[in-house]
Amino acid sequence: MHINDLPTPALIVDRGRLKDNLERMAQMATMAGVKLRPHIKTHKSPFIAHWQRALGAEGVTVATVDEAEAMAYNGIDDVFVAYPVAEVHRANRLARLGRLARISVGIDSEIGAKVLSRAAEYYGVELEVLIEIDTGLQRSGLAKSDEALALAKVTDKLPGLKLKGLFTHAGHAHGQDARGREMTGKAEGEIIVEIGQSLKARGFAMEVLSTGSTPSASIVAQVPGVTEIRPGTYVFNDGSLVAPGVATWDQCALSVLATVVSHPTSQRYIVDTGSKSLSKDQGKGVPGFGAIKGRETTYIAWVNEEHGVIEDSSLGLSVGDKVEIIPNHACATVNLFDEYYLVEDDLVLGRIPVAARGHRHFV
Ligand SMILES: Cc1ncc(COP(=O)(O)O)c(C=O)c1O
Repeated sequence: MHINDLPTPALIVDRGRLKDNLERMAQMATMAGVKLRPHIKTHKSPFIAHWQRALGAEGVTVATVDEAEAMAYNGIDDVFVAYPVAEVHRANRLARLGRLARISVGIDSEIGAKVLSRAAEYYGVELEVLIEIDTGLQRSGLAKSDEALALAKVTDKLPGLKLKGLFTHAGHAHGQDARGREMTGKAEGEIIVEIGQSLKARGFAMEVLSTGSTPSASIVAQVPGVTEIRPGTYVFNDGSLVAPGVATWDQCALSVLATVVSHPTSQRYIVDTGSKSLSKDQGKGVPGFGAIKGRETTYIAWVNEEHGVIEDSSLGLSVGDKVEIIPNHACATVNLFDEYYLVEDDLVLGRIPVAARGHRHFV
C-alpha cells in the first residue's frame, strides 16, 4: 500500500530515519563508555524497545506503570521506572511485575520507600531503587546531598529494597541553545556524580548514576562517573528539538499524515489534524502546532480539535491532497494514537501498536 492510500489522520514512522536515530544514539553511548537505558515514553512500543535492546541498550526507562507492564508483558526484562512511585497501587503493580522482570524504581521520599518496601515484601520480590536528585529542573527529586544521605539510610534498612544509586533528569536542557545545553548537561552530570561519591564514601553502593535527555545525552555521557544515559525523544525527534539545533528536520522520523479537507480562501487550508491528533503541546521555541514535512517553514498556525489551519497562499494544494505534519512534541502526539504505520520509500510496511498509551487502572 502507498502511504497516500492510508486513511487519515494516521501516525507515520519513517523506518529509515528511525533506524538512523536509534543507531546514532547507541553508537554515541558505546563510544562514551556509558550504558544506554532509553526512555520509552516517546514511542510506547515494545517493537521499538526490542530494537533498542538489540542495539545494546541495557534496559528501558518508563514513567508509568502502564508503560512498565506493556514492556515487561512483551518481553522486555529490565525496566526502570523513573518516577516517584509513592502510593500503594503503583507499588503493588510494580512489585508483581518484579516476578516477571528486573524492576528498578525511583524514590525521593521516605513514604515512597516504605510503600515500595511493603509491596515488595508482600509479593516476595526485591525491588532495586534509585534516589532521584534534582539537578535544576525543579520537578521531583532531592536537591541536597544530606537529604539524599538521609533517604539512603532509611532505604538501606527496609526489607525488599536494594539501593542501586541515583538518577536525575535535567529536562530544562530542552529549548536551550548549544551553550546552555553544554552548561546544563555538565551540571547535571557533575552534581549527580558528586552526590554519588559522597554517598559511596558513607558506605552506600552507588552502582548506577543515571542521567541524560535527548538534548543533554552527548554532554553528560562525557562526564566522568556517569554510568548511564536515558534519552527518549531521540527516536523520533520533533520540531521542538529542531528549533534549538538538537536535531534536523531530516532526522524527524515521526509525522501525522493529514488530508486537506477544505480550502475556503486562497490563503487558508484546513487539514484533518487538529489538537486531537497533534496535541496542544507546542514545545519550546517552535511556532504553531507542527510543520509540513519537506516544507518545514510552513506550519499549522492554529488548531481546533479536528481542524488544523495552515495559512500559506503559496502552498498549491487541493482539497483531497495529503501532507505529512511533523509534530512539535512527538511524545504527546504518539499518546493520541492506537497504532503507527511503519513506512519506507512511501510504502506502508505494517502497523505497530502504541501498546503503552494512556492510563489504565488495573488493581
Ligand atoms: C526522568 C526522565 N528521564 C529521561 C527523559 C528523556 O528525555 P528526552 O525525552 O528529552 O530524551 C525524560 C523525559 O521526560 C524523563 O522525564
